[in-house]
Amino acid sequence: MEIFTRVVALQNYLANYRKNHVNSILGFVPTMGALHEGHMSLIQNAVEKSDLIVASIFVNPTQFNNQNDLKTYPSSVEKDQKLLEENGCNILFLPEVEEIYTSEYSSEDYEIDFEGIDEVMEGLYRPGHFRGVAMVVERFFQIVQPDLAFFGRKDFQQVAIIKQMVKYKGIKVDIEVVPTKRNNDGLALSSRNQLLNAEQLKHALTLNQTLCYLRSVFDNLTIDELEEEGRKRIDNGKLRLEYISIVDDVTLRFPQSKNSKITCCVAAYCGDVRLIDNMPLNY
Ligand code: PAJ
Repeated sequence: MEIFTRVVALQNYLANYRKNHVNSILGFVPTMGALHEGHMSLIQNAVEKSDLIVASIFVNPTQFNNQNDLKTYPSSVEKDQKLLEENGCNILFLPEVEEIYTSEYSSEDYEIDFEGIDEVMEGLYRPGHFRGVAMVVERFFQIVQPDLAFFGRKDFQQVAIIKQMVKYKGIKVDIEVVPTKRNNDGLALSSRNQLLNAEQLKHALTLNQTLCYLRSVFDNLTIDELEEEGRKRIDNGKLRLEYISIVDDVTLRFPQSKNSKITCCVAAYCGDVRLIDNMPLNY
């Protein structure tokens, strides 16, 4: 696996690759490191669908609305490199902040219209977060110019944000969505799970259990009743619920009917650690 820290060096390498492999498909997997099997399922998907796989590790400061979250964000670059290599990644891009945010690409000047999809769920509780995500992913797309880019369904609203950014900016890339990878107990894998102790890891299972339950009773209850049931189960004294939203997959708003594709999204604190999860309820 080749490792690059400089934009120019990576771009030179990719330009040369493209010249010699004209019809090759370039797949890109952006990450913030502390990699786990969830990230690896993105890499494995990329290996299946592309000829050259570029992954990035960059803890993007502009998407952290909470400075403590940025400070405590786990990092394990050597282990990450090994995992990426073992799973068939060809290129790792590991830039410093100064390589990504430059005077030509500064966060103050960034222009985007999310058409309202940033105004619900995560957007309400993490002001500025999605702007930071869109900004960094667009910058990576400019640098790497991938044919395919892979994102996890675990971050359901993030996928909608990326698709909207791509549409708004007219970028030519296909967004591939990879299912949420869970541990044997059903907990959605997340870099933040490392911050949970053994007891908290057990409490965190309530999220997936509740989502599975709501899915199983979808036909018997109204959307309001489902949300209320989920609220009661998650806000149980061990977890502190931030929101539970049952939404139409396209609008990310309260569903107009039960016939559209519907997903339940939740965010809850387990101690100081904020966890999110989601599950389709009717497909
Ligand atoms: P990060 O949290 O490192 O996640 C990188 C990618 O891995 C995202 O697309 C995320 O949805 C996916 N992922 C994480 N856990 C997963 C799981 N359990 N199953 C499947 N996919 C999973 O998301 C980000 O970084 C950043 O916002 C980023 C897009 C890199 C921009 O900075």
